Amino acid sequence: MVRVADLFCGIGGFLVGSGQLATDAGAEQRCELAVDIDADALAVHQRNHATRRAVEASVTSLVDYRIRGTGAEAEFVYPPEMIDDELAAACEEIDLVAAGPPCQGHSNLNNRSRRNDRRNLLYLAVPAFAVACRARSVAIENVTSVVHDGADVVATTKALLGAYGYSITEGVLAADEMGWPQTRRRHFLIARRLDAPGGSGPLPLTEVRELLAQDRPRSVVWAIGGTQALSHDPAMHDLPEYTEANRGRMAWLFDNEEHDLALAERPECHQDGTSYGAVYGRMYGDRPAPTITTGFMTPGRGRFVHPTERRTLTAAEAARLQGFPDGYVFQPGLDKRPTRAQLTKWIGDAVTAPLGYAATLSALAPALVS
Ligand SMILES: C[S@@+](CC[C@H](N)C(=O)[O-])C[C@H]1O[C@@H](n2cnc3c(N)ncnc32)[C@H](O)[C@@H]1O
Repeated sequence: MVRVADLFCGIGGFLVGSGQLATDAGAEQRCELAVDIDADALAVHQRNHATRRAVEASVTSLVDYRIRGTGAEAEFVYPPEMIDDELAAACEEIDLVAAGPPCQGHSNLNNRSRRNDRRNLLYLAVPAFAVACRARSVAIENVTSVVHDGADVVATTKALLGAYGYSITEGVLAADEMGWPQTRRRHFLIARRLDAPGGSGPLPLTEVRELLAQDRPRSVVWAIGGTQALSHDPAMHDLPEYTEANRGRMAWLFDNEEHDLALAERPECHQDGTSYGAVYGRMYGDRPAPTITTGFMTPGRGRFVHPTERRTLTAAEAARLQGFPDGYVFQPGLDKRPTRAQLTKWIGDAVTAPLGYAATLSALAPALVS
């Protein structure tokens, strides 16, 4: 049994990958706790992962902790403690804390507030939670630029966990290098308590990359093509009303058999040709997709035009590219349908399944071979 706590859980993308790893290792994954401030996302999580406790709250409110200093000098002022006794009891035997704290503040796509966004400090609630419940291992996902964060959250987390007996590996994992049809790259910090079963730290990410490396990634068409029904839920096939300008841009790509919009066809602010190269672009069917973001239905937010049709990706197609199985339920409740805005956020923000798989392999490897 692999007992998991999923913090900043969204709809549970991370647990799709960790669950696949558990299955491959002959174990069952059990989600003891999922925490998010988005009630509908939690409901979706619970429907797919049989989540035992879905807590709608800020992760920061679950633990009593204070941090002094930053980077290598950082320390907890006193040992972090779970605030709620019942939750503390439920989290006594956690094998893996999986966490995807919001990354808006670190992302290079966010020019206005980048690197000093207060949300970045949410990252530090993860080591506090892990220490408070003595979790055996921790895996934190974020954008690659998190290592340049103004509050130095990665180095701070390493110092905080290191002081409580965790050994750490960190680095970037690329989905396409593992054969997946999406070029997403994400930073992972993986920690494992040295006194946990197996008695050693996490498998270094360099070794994980080697173990899972594939010569060639699969293609967009492999992921979203084919004749099988992608999903039975009509909401998953819904598309936005495109503006006339965007309909014209998509038509131009197909009429000219192009994948990149000519400068003259772009909005004036993009016409200098030095930035935003891929936006309004059409995907290449025989290559991996670009990073699926929350903008996957909007032509002006990336290369999100379908390879063979005059439209952007549907939620069903983006879900496939993120590694969600076709049976995944995206409805918060039997009578509650998700909105398009919810679907793009949930799917675009999710941890791509093969990345979750690789991170979990690193975190759990010592226990799996012992
Ligand atoms: C990057 S998404 C997580 C994606 C998720 N790990 C997955 O794989 O599907 C970040 C999530 O953090 C949630 N969030 C933001 N602030 C939060 C807070 N203070 N406490 C708990 N969740 C929070 C958001 O609602 C969002 O679902």
